[in-house]
Amino acid sequence: MSGMTTATVAARPATRPAVLILLGPPGAGKGTQARMLEERFGLVQLSTGDLLRAAVAQGTEAGRAAKAVMEAGGLVSDEIVLAILRDRMAAPDVARGVILDGFPRTDVQAAALDDLLCEAGQEVTAAIALVVDDEAMIARVAGRYTCAGCGEGYHDSFKVPARAGVCDRCGGTAFRRRADDTAETAGARLAAYHAQTAPLIAYYEGRGVLQRIDAMGTIDEIGADLADIVSRVSA
Ligand code: AP5
Repeated sequence: MSGMTTATVAARPATRPAVLILLGPPGAGKGTQARMLEERFGLVQLSTGDLLRAAVAQGTEAGRAAKAVMEAGGLVSDEIVLAILRDRMAAPDVARGVILDGFPRTDVQAAALDDLLCEAGQEVTAAIALVVDDEAMIARVAGRYTCAGCGEGYHDSFKVPARAGVCDRCGGTAFRRRADDTAETAGARLAAYHAQTAPLIAYYEGRGVLQRIDAMGTIDEIGADLADIVSRVSA
């Protein structure tokens, strides 16, 4: 693979749990890679998209407010996202270390994360930017589906179950597709990414914790590059 990883990651006391951020546009592979890292390193994947979809499914007040915004491909308000994130970060399993998937997405969220970590005597270990082409992202998003039982992610062309119609991970046979995984909504999500989230790459670069990965390769190639980084910064 690329070997395009850059930047020096600041040394961190070994006793602190890792706080890793995956940055990248919709379809970059954040969720796919976060689940692989979770299994390999025992870290906890924390996806604000998953937390918001759960709130929508449960019909909570936050979920009702977020639903239309998500279906249109916009960003949910910082207030709602931060309330959900704070709740999740307070859970005991987070002490194992986290992979933040889809958070932060705005400068307000990045500052709030810094404050939250500071209160806990922690800091961002590494922010990893998955670098991809916009055109390829539409194809990845449009072909995506997940297991209804365990959430394992698949793709019509790029990642199919070993046995057709049966989840590799849990054996489930029911699958679903996201309401916002249309070519039209993916365009709006990409626009939101470039306007509000991509500037965070420079923010973390200035902090000396940014790593870049060429994420146009195969899932396994990207996974190997990511594992190298995580091994290094978690050592
Ligand atoms: P969220 O759920 O975070 O969606 P997203 O950022 O748009 O990212 P995706 O889940 O679409 O993509 P991914 O990078 O995880 O790719 P994946 O691994 O699935 O957010 C949804 C919405 O919630 C947002 O639009 C917003 O409204 C709201 N929201 C969430 N967080 C928020 C926040 N912090 N602030 C405000 N609003 C927020 O891969 C995609 C597909 O490609 C899969 O099928 C996979 O199998 C395949 N694939 C993966 N890698 C590869 C590869 N290397 N080659 C080929 N195929 C691949």
